[in-house]
Amino acid sequence: MSEFDFGQNKTIDESRQGEAIIIDAKDKKSAVKSNGKKLYLESYGCAMNFSDSEVVASILANEGYETTRNSEEADVILINTCSIRDNAEQRVNKRLFDFKQQKKSNPSLVVGILGCMAERLKENLLDQQKLVDLVAGPDSYRDLPNLIFEVEGGQKAVNVLLSREETYGDISPIRLDNSGISAFVSITRGCDNMCSFCVVPFTRGRERSRDPQTIVQECKDLFKNGYREVVLLGQNVDSYRWNMSSKGEIKDENQATTNFTQLLEMVAKINPLLRVRFSTSHPKDMTDDVIEMMTKYDNICSHIHLPVQSGNTEILAKMNRGYTREWYLNRIEAIRRIYPECVITTDIIAGFCGETEEQHQDTLSLLDEVEFSFAYMYTYSERPKTLAERKYEDDVPEKTKSRRLTEIIDKQLKYALKVNQRQIGQIQEILVEGTSKKSQEQFVGRNSSNIKVVFPKSNFEKGMYVKVKIVDCTSATMIGELV
Ligand code: SAH
Ligand code: SF4
Ligand code: F3S
Repeated sequence: MSEFDFGQNKTIDESRQGEAIIIDAKDKKSAVKSNGKKLYLESYGCAMNFSDSEVVASILANEGYETTRNSEEADVILINTCSIRDNAEQRVNKRLFDFKQQKKSNPSLVVGILGCMAERLKENLLDQQKLVDLVAGPDSYRDLPNLIFEVEGGQKAVNVLLSREETYGDISPIRLDNSGISAFVSITRGCDNMCSFCVVPFTRGRERSRDPQTIVQECKDLFKNGYREVVLLGQNVDSYRWNMSSKGEIKDENQATTNFTQLLEMVAKINPLLRVRFSTSHPKDMTDDVIEMMTKYDNICSHIHLPVQSGNTEILAKMNRGYTREWYLNRIEAIRRIYPECVITTDIIAGFCGETEEQHQDTLSLLDEVEFSFAYMYTYSERPKTLAERKYEDDVPEKTKSRRLTEIIDKQLKYALKVNQRQIGQIQEILVEGTSKKSQEQFVGRNSSNIKVVFPKSNFEKGMYVKVKIVDCTSATMIGELV
């Protein structure tokens, strides 16, 4: 992913394209005295990784590190990596090559790999081009100051222990984007689902939920600091459950004291001006309760990201997704019935092991049935150690995978346009995010359904809500007029 200004239009969509995000907290004042060292942090992969980078920045700011956007002036370079598909890892390998020269001219430079690749490849990363000094998995970021200290003492440092408890719940992340409007807030870590194609359970470990009080406090602090949108993050937000008493005792193994629906309400109640989004919902776990709660509060945004992966029941079974095509369509029907205005987006994998032409057609026909507003679409990439790698042959030729993906994308773009066209003529409330990249005279913001809207600037400021009439659109953006 090319470097881009995460500050302007930060959304989960952009953070999941596999591009790198260069992050910098230069303007954030730290109470801790500088140690004179500069940290350069680059983040790949999903929103959770970005959110983790904000935790890392906070942990190291407490040690006196200042962040920089310029890798050339860094004393410590940390790359927070993604393993979801092979090309995500290849991109990081290339990036490491870029830092090789810098390391030659500055031998004391510390280069570390964090995140999912660190967890997957562990100390094997140290061999790589003799460049990597430090490897830290997603649950070992509290140990980073020690690990860096070890490297400075001339050793290589590795901590890839996964934890059943770590949620970084008590750490106040340093916000690394410039927008100051929208922030990610992690509510769970890890995943217990074991979808057969997916590396996440191996890189992020067992699922655990974060103390709801710390989530609500973080969201309150964000609102106080001018933020107007929080995105609650988890690999499967519907399985959020907290069953501890306020004293930290487990109240009842089988009874959650807070489930996701309740958490959503707690966050929505903070302030009507704080928009609440969440991602990712899992079709097997998303209940009608969640949809009903969304309709109770105007500030819970009208958007559900509900990855389907495939429209064919046999492929879904091989993927170990825990639902059928019919079940998925039943969930869509529930959303349409309870919350008709709600926009639905999805993820799709083309060419999973053994996928036939007919099974692929089922995915295409599902796109016709649901009419998603947006989709992340990928070809299947076999990941080491996953159930699919052990059990099934990756036997759909790359050319066929690509052709199927193109068919999926072509169809999906038509529906994206159709969903947007349906909104022409509506008056919508847009949260202003900043100046449009294409025109200084235009602002860009998002409607409740997470669709980008561009409109004339007038005398608004970012962070304000503006009423806009939708007058035109493409498949990705809507054009608005002030009303
Ligand atoms: N927890 C989320 C998904 C997280 S990974 C969920 O269950 O929906 C984000 C997306 O990457 C997945 O939805 C899937 O579409 C895609 N993905 C994951 N593993 C993949 C693989 N091996 N090959 C191609 N795409 C993959
Ligand atoms: Fe991966 Fe499935 Fe967990 Fe999502 S739910 S992170 S796809 S194992
Ligand atoms: Fe996210 Fe990639 Fe890890 S999608 S959880 S950073 S493998």
